[in-house]
Amino acid sequence: MKRVVMTSMGALALSLFMVAGASAAEKPAHAYVGVKTCKMCHSKAATGNQYGKWTESKHSKAFEVLATDAAKAAAKKQGLEGNPQELAECLECHVTAYGVDASMVGKRLKPEDGVGCESCHGPGKDYKSKKVMMDVDAAVAKGLIIPDEKTCVQCHNERSPFFKGFKFDEFYAKIAHPVPDKGE
Ligand code: HEC
Ligand code: HEC
Ligand code: HEC
Ligand code: HEC
Repeated sequence: MKRVVMTSMGALALSLFMVAGASAAEKPAHAYVGVKTCKMCHSKAATGNQYGKWTESKHSKAFEVLATDAAKAAAKKQGLEGNPQELAECLECHVTAYGVDASMVGKRLKPEDGVGCESCHGPGKDYKSKKVMMDVDAAVAKGLIIPDEKTCVQCHNERSPFFKGFKFDEFYAKIAHPVPDKGE
């Protein structure tokens, strides 16, 4: 009898897990391609080397940082067990496209890339062609996001174990990657 009870509880736990898994897999309107694809066109100094600026920013290390002792301690403090690099509670803000349906995530997108271009600019498969990119309205129609403070506070908020406040101007200055004015 005891055994039957345990089995049905096991089945219940499994089905709950599957329900949670299914609802977590979001299917966005556009697919993700990964930072290496953006790099092809966005690493020239003359147009601002956005890729280079990003590699120098902490966003490019957001997955790596989950392997540190500070990360392990933070997870433990929240009562979470296991490796932070595998915990949904951490990955949702530390990698790109977490929880997105696998069919919408290109093979070049790696967790190691952390908070990549598409975490802020939206999934790039449909706007990444040069023709579309040259026309910002066309790009936005195909999924490009021109990020603002609202984009940042999806991650920069009190749910971050290391949150000490967020000031857009101050933080944006540290990651700015403008296209230099033409003719300068
Ligand atoms: C085939 C080349 C190419 C690829 C690939 C590409 N871009 Fe672009 N992108 C451009 C060009 C050209 C512009 C126009 C501005 C310029 O000259 O740099 C542009 C402009 C932009 C802009 C500025 C839009 C505006 O006018 O405010 C953003 C943001 C952007 N790209 C993000 C991305 C992201 C993110 C990726 C990867 C998902 C990506 N791009 C991939 C060529 C590309
Ligand atoms: C997908 C989640 C996410 C989004 C969206 C996001 N960030 Fe971050 N940001 C992080 C994570 C995670 C870190 C910490 C990475 C690390 O320490 O390795 C971070 C770190 C930073 C840092 C470095 C802070 C420090 O202590 O030096 C700055 C600056 C920053 N973000 C600015 C921004 C701005 C500005 C925006 C919006 C335009 C933004 N972020 C959007 C997740 C995000
Ligand atoms: C809501 C989004 C979010 C979640 C969830 C989240 N983080 Fe972060 N994490 C951030 C942001 C944003 C930063 C940059 C610091 C800040 O909050 O301003 C950061 C920074 C960090 C840092 C660098 C701290 C430093 O001082 O350099 C570590 C380590 C870290 N997070 C570990 C974790 C771990 C472990 C978890 C899961 C238990 C986790 N984070 C969950 C958003 C998040
Ligand atoms: C943390 C969020 C974040 C990440 C990550 C990020 N960007 Fe941006 N990006 C922004 C914001 C905010 C702006 C300014 C939007 C505006 O013009 O108001 C911007 C602007 C741009 C512009 C337009 C600059 C101009 O002067 O018109 C380009 C091009 C661009 N990003 C490309 C990239 C590429 C390529 C990557 C990855 C290598 C990337 N971004 C990663 C937030 C981000």
